[in-house]
Amino acid sequence: MDITKITAKFKELYGAEGAVYAAPGRINLIGEHTDYNGGFVLPGAIDKAIYCVIKPNGTAKVRAYAPDENPQVVSLNSEFGLEESDKPKDRWAQYIFGVCREMSKKGAKIPGFDILISGEVPLGAGMSSSAALESCVGFALNDTFGLGFDKLQLALIGQATEHNYVGVKCGIMDQFASCFGKEGSLVRLDCRSLEYEYFPFDPKGYKLVLINTCVTHMLGGEYNERRESCERVVAAIAKKHPEVALLRDANPDMLKEVSNNVSAVDYIRAEFVIEEIQRLLDTCELLKKGDYEAAGRKMYETHTGLSLKYTVSCPELDFLNEKAKECGVAGSRVMGGGFGGCTINLVKDELYDAFIKSATEAYEKAFNIKPLVYDVVIKDGARKLA
Ligand code: GLA
Repeated sequence: MDITKITAKFKELYGAEGAVYAAPGRINLIGEHTDYNGGFVLPGAIDKAIYCVIKPNGTAKVRAYAPDENPQVVSLNSEFGLEESDKPKDRWAQYIFGVCREMSKKGAKIPGFDILISGEVPLGAGMSSSAALESCVGFALNDTFGLGFDKLQLALIGQATEHNYVGVKCGIMDQFASCFGKEGSLVRLDCRSLEYEYFPFDPKGYKLVLINTCVTHMLGGEYNERRESCERVVAAIAKKHPEVALLRDANPDMLKEVSNNVSAVDYIRAEFVIEEIQRLLDTCELLKKGDYEAAGRKMYETHTGLSLKYTVSCPELDFLNEKAKECGVAGSRVMGGGFGGCTINLVKDELYDAFIKSATEAYEKAFNIKPLVYDVVIKDGARKLA
């Protein structure tokens, strides 16, 4: 990102210099759709971020500008107040508004400000551009106005923004990774207790690479439905086992006991989640031993589960997953919420070039879409730049 460009644009628009903040997108090695079930996840912040330039403007209004938006679809400017009834029309501005509102609900007094948003996290690619935006705005407001929130509160404010102002009942993984990310480490997060540990990740002899199907997803109804399935199964299990508050607390035997009380679809979704929580724990052990081939096989298992049981894959993602298998890639799977976006691939150095060439050429031929390739670089979380 060329910071001088965005700071110059900010000055041109608002006639003053602003402070610059960044918050990254994320990858997740394994542990998908486990966060809102109280399970574990293994994300890391990446070298692609959302940036903002910000300055108090002495009014009670927010003036926001997003140069990367498509002016044919939405307006690049948005001006809004900070009362609940002031919700702006454009979705990108609703994220800013939502973060302000969630902060106000926690007692923060937020005066008016000017803000410019720019980014390099691809939208709808499963790399959490929305969490990066929420974390960036949250971090910037917290610092600019001395609001005194800690990183966990900022992550929770981002998540609440999704729930209450965007309509996605997401878990905590994305916002947590964006706020807590650390260069060279994944974050092993227990989404029930919110305890976490940094998990150094430097797989010698392997590369981690994302291939973007360029089929974009907008998480919404289908995502929320998955969550509701899990909640229904928990309610059924809890009748006999009141200690079960989340699928994290359930085991395969408890699930079997309710097989006649829940729908077949709910059952198989819950089965995936229970398996995936265990799979993450097993994978962490394999990573500690440096057994990347076995850890990679777990990633394939996750893909199969996400595709056949949780049904959040799509033909394009399945195609790339098959290609990875054919090319001898150690591990490959759909990453993030699903329904499009990227596969994440753990590939031996010597197979990398041949895999990328063959997968991207075959994909383009099959779908007439040029896929995008990103080498994963694990970086720090939200921060002030200037
Ligand atoms: C999206 C959500 C996360 C998580 C993943 C799936 O990225 O925002 O909370 O549920 O999907 O693991």
